[in-house]
Amino acid sequence: MAVTGAVMVLFLIGHMLGNLKIFLGRDSFNEYAHALRTLAEPLAPYRTLLTIVEIVLVVSVVLHMWAAISLSRRAHHARPVKYVAKKSQAAGYATHIMRFGGITILLFVIWHLLDLTFGVVNPKGFDAAPADRMVAGFDASRWWVTLIYLVAVVMVGLHLRHGVWSAFQTLGWANRSRNRTLRLSAGLLSAVLVIGFLAPPLAITFGVVK
Ligand code: HEM
Repeated sequence: MAVTGAVMVLFLIGHMLGNLKIFLGRDSFNEYAHALRTLAEPLAPYRTLLTIVEIVLVVSVVLHMWAAISLSRRAHHARPVKYVAKKSQAAGYATHIMRFGGITILLFVIWHLLDLTFGVVNPKGFDAAPADRMVAGFDASRWWVTLIYLVAVVMVGLHLRHGVWSAFQTLGWANRSRNRTLRLSAGLLSAVLVIGFLAPPLAITFGVVK
């Protein structure tokens, strides 16, 4: 879970930074989208590196889900009878937020690809420039789309906060003296990603980016 999670966190950091290019103007954003597809050209054909990244991402998502399911099965087999007294409310909350959050994020990503990658549910469609799709997609008249992104990105933030913290524990970094710092780091990384991801949709909906 930690390795595939780390791959996705790296993708999210890069994706968030790339999205922020919309603040430098539509041309800058389109150039960036074009660069993603032509990386490694002319040594490799159009879209080679991007396709590799996409394959790595799909494999990571599948393995991450497989690991989550097998870990939860293993925990169930280890103790088929439920605890009479739950250890803490927090553990139940974390399990719920990870399970339902993960499924919500997956559904969001499918819808997000139909919107901004394939243009199927976007007013500008597939043939428009990436920046035009993005600006039209978050137009004030489609405030509900921005709302969906807001909810989904907050879910991503909560998922990451717990996921990164769990990864620190898996790596054996957590101990009593470091716990506070590690928890804070996981929270900070999640907060930066949530703010960075939400800035473009909100700026477009409120007319700051046109
Ligand atoms: C909330 C703000 C977000 C915005 C404005 C945004 C914007 C975009 C855009 C414009 C594309 C298409 C890129 C292109 O075709 O050149 C894209 C692709 C993608 N986004 Fe997002 N995104 C956001 C959040 C997220 C989140 C939170 C995730 C994951 C949890 C995510 C996952 C993806 C994936 C997997 C792709 C496809 C990458 C590829 O195959 O090329 N995005 N996004």
